[in-house]
This record gives sequence, C-alpha cells and structure tokens, in this order.
Amino acid sequence: MIKFDFQTYIKPFIDENKFNELYSKKNEYIDKLNSLEMTGWKKEIDRNTINNIEQTANYIKSNFECLVVIGIGGSFLGSYSFHQAFKKYFNDNSFEVIYAGTTLSSKYLDELYEYLKDKNFCINVISKSGTTMETTITYNLLKDLLKRKYSEEEVRRRIIVTTDKETGNLRKEVNEKGYISFEIPSDIGGRYSFMTPAHLLPLALNYNLKDIVDGYYDGKRFIDKAFEYAVIRKLLFDNKKQVECFTVYEESLYYFTEWLKQLFGETEGKNNVGIYPTSMVHTRDLHSLGQFVQDGNKILFETFIKIDNTKHFIKYNNDDLHTINNIVEDSVERAHFSGNTPCIEIELDELNESNLSELIYFFMLSAAFSGLLFGVDPFNQPGVEVYKKEVKESLNK
Ligand code: PA5
Repeated sequence: MIKFDFQTYIKPFIDENKFNELYSKKNEYIDKLNSLEMTGWKKEIDRNTINNIEQTANYIKSNFECLVVIGIGGSFLGSYSFHQAFKKYFNDNSFEVIYAGTTLSSKYLDELYEYLKDKNFCINVISKSGTTMETTITYNLLKDLLKRKYSEEEVRRRIIVTTDKETGNLRKEVNEKGYISFEIPSDIGGRYSFMTPAHLLPLALNYNLKDIVDGYYDGKRFIDKAFEYAVIRKLLFDNKKQVECFTVYEESLYYFTEWLKQLFGETEGKNNVGIYPTSMVHTRDLHSLGQFVQDGNKILFETFIKIDNTKHFIKYNNDDLHTINNIVEDSVERAHFSGNTPCIEIELDELNESNLSELIYFFMLSAAFSGLLFGVDPFNQPGVEVYKKEVKESLNK
C-alpha cells in the first residue's frame, strides 16, 4: 500500500492555476507515452519467461555456492538496490550474490579474483548492448578464471547471459557456445528493465517472484498520481527548485535512492534541462547535508520515502524506536519546510517486496511522464553514449 501527500508541504510553492492547466493535459500525455516505442516495461511479462527464470535459479542454487552478477547502470541497479533493501544487516544467510562490473578498480577485481579462486561459482553477465566496457572487462577476467579452473564443458555450464535477443557480442557468443541465456526485450531500455530477466534472475535466488511481479503491476493503478508527481516536479523546477533530494530513513534503502538517481537523471537530463537528483539517508545526513538543506542555497526540494510500520520492535525507554524514527521524520519535514524547502511525501505501509516493486513501477511511470513534460525523449541516453565513445577511442589507440 502506498500513500502520497503532495499537498501539506508543497502548496505554497506551486501556482494552483498552472498546476490545473498542466494537470488537465493528463490524457494527452498518457497518449503520448503510449505512442512511444520503448515502453515494453508497461506490458505484462510472459509466464514462460518467469518459469525459465525460476528453473534457472533452482539450477544455480543446487549446483553452485554463489552467483557473480556482472553488469552496470540499468543492468545492475535494479536487482542490487532491491536486494540491499531486504537482506539482513548482519548474519545475512541469503544465497550469495556478488555484484561486479561496476568498477575498474584493480583492488576490487584483484580481491574478487582471489576470493573466487576457491569458490564454486557461476556467472550471470548482463548487458543489453553486449558492448559495455566495464562489463566486458570484468566478464573476460572472470571467464578467464573459470577457464583456468574447469574444462570447456564445465565453463559452459557456469555462464548465463542476459542480453538483447539478436544483436551484440554476447548474443553472438551465446549462439556459438550454447550458454543458458535470457533476453532483454528490444523495447525496454536499461533503467526501465526491472521487470525483465536482467533483474528477476538474480532476485529469484532469494525472493518470491510472485510478490515482485504482482506488486509491480499493481503500480499501474497510480497512473494519475504518477502524472501529478511529474507535474509538481516540473512546476517546482520552473520555480527555481532544480535539485530533488530523495530522502530515506532506512540505511538499507540507500541503493534504492541510487536507482532513483539513475532513473531520473538519465531520463530527464538532456538538452540542457532536467532536475538534478541527489539523496540523503537520515538521520545520518542531517549531520552533514542537513545544514545546507535547512539554511543554504534554496535550489532544492525533497521527496521523502517513508515507511509507516515495521516488524522490528525495539523499545527505547517506553517508546517504540520505529515510532521515534517517524516522529523525527515528521519534525525534520516541518523544519525543512520552514526553511523554504518543499517536501513531497510518499509512504509505504511497510517495507516489503511487493510494495517496493509497486513503487518502482510508480517511479518509472513518473520519470517517463517527466521526460515528456521536459520535452525530451525519456528513453535515450545520448550523454552516456558520448563518454562510451571517447573511452573506446582512447583504449583503441
Ligand atoms: O539505462 C541505461 O540504458 C544505461 O544506464 C545502461 O543500462 C548501462 O549503460 C549499461 O548498458 P548495457 O546493459 O548495454 O551494458
């Protein structure tokens, strides 16, 4: 269950007439969105794909000690942030999933190589294009390790590829070697690919896919709210609030805010427009960025992601700690609002898999609407391609 408050700490910053004018164009924007090609993420995922994912997850769990997921950006953040949100802080006993491919740090990769030497591991390399530099380098290094340890047939059993159906080097390799493989549909881009094997396979090792899949499509009911949120953000931007801070009160949601940053940053940030997304984890960051938010340059608005209830009851004196955390959250919102910072509230009744998945759909829908309201293509990322090209040219010199 998700609740939205777009009123209490927002009203003074939004011109009601402008809001009504833009909001009245909702159906026009829904039609615009529906007419775009890259909206496969709104379609139902087919049952066969879910069955194949579940079977492969069982195969991994019964044959190997851990899975190394290799991917970056939209081929990484969805499943990683979801897993971070739910794994235990201590003594986590979930099936071991290691993420690699997000860094060229030789320290990280050297230590990973060392760690995996004596492990019975397999790989899931994930890349829609099949050409991303960080993913390719990490994949080749770890494939090399597999080759040192195992026969050709055994290496083949340990590589699972998730990529485009037809194009790219990875698909070519799958066709040559016969690896287990999954498809990222051609009408779904990286940051919108949560409901594809790119994220569902790593998650199927530790989570019930039914909760995730059902929760995601439940998000469809919030289409009006998603558009309203997009309209409010656009009007705040026009009112010189050009930075959005996603604020959470649960450390485990830190990577969810990283997922949000990619989603909104890559969707809107083009043609010299867009809201700059940032994040804070409270109460920790109240003792660092809190000063700026309260008292600094008034360029910012905050989107609070609140959690109403928890299963973790800890008493402090006679009060429940989660209630104290929520009281702090409400107080901070009032304080920031008094310091001229608009605050948007989005509240989950509790942090569970179906709620988070529903929230993911809500934010993807809002981001897509926002892109359209900013007059940009929500689904391309020409800026990312520029750096990729530069790096490719430099490395090939
Ligand atoms: O959202 C996007 O499209 C990008 O962030 C990509 O996901 C990222 O660059 C990785 O691309 P690929 O999956 O092709 O390796």
